[in-house]
Amino acid sequence: MYGIFLLILAIFLVAISARSIYGFVIGAPILFSPKKATEDALLECQAKPGEIFYDLGSGTGRTMLVAAKKFGLHVCGFELSPPIAFVAKCNLWLHGVRKSNIYSKNFYHADLSGADIIFCFLTPKAMLRLKSKFERELSTGTRIISYAFSIPGWKPEKVIRNGTPGKVFYYIIKNS
Ligand SMILES: C[S@@+](CC[C@H](N)C(=O)[O-])C[C@H]1O[C@@H](n2cnc3c(N)ncnc32)[C@H](O)[C@@H]1O
Repeated sequence: MYGIFLLILAIFLVAISARSIYGFVIGAPILFSPKKATEDALLECQAKPGEIFYDLGSGTGRTMLVAAKKFGLHVCGFELSPPIAFVAKCNLWLHGVRKSNIYSKNFYHADLSGADIIFCFLTPKAMLRLKSKFERELSTGTRIISYAFSIPGWKPEKVIRNGTPGKVFYYIIKNS
């Protein structure tokens, strides 16, 4: 019995580290953005209840929780690591968020066209790679929030400095 528990634990840890290392290479490591950054950015966005919020690399669901609980947004997360995506699902459920979609998949392969608001806390390399995807898939009026890293070559609508360690870059897609 004890052996089976250790085996399951080992598989879980290997799954977390393998997918996390892959996530680090192609996207970003597992870190958490400050809740205040999400709150301030969503206020700036004038986010309205029912709008659709995507978190690209949703981690444990921290930003989705703020978006759902404080702003009434319909939240959707993409997270490479299945165990972390599972933790996010539990996190949202335990906090009373019953309607959410968390996909354990690579956001580069996801269709982003359904989003009203997109949140990223990734790396400069990932933002560069996402830039052309945003240009192809997002329609006019879609808002993008990027914590800590700007989208190379794009002029932000606003840069929010709110005392958190990173700046928040806020963009609106102007034409499709
Ligand atoms: C810096 S964390 C941000 C977590 C959360 N969004 C926040 O702001 O607190 C980045 C997350 O993105 C995930 N990730 C990295 N590349 C990814 C990819 N291509 N597709 C899906 N998830 C990815 C990582 O596993 C990690 O959990």
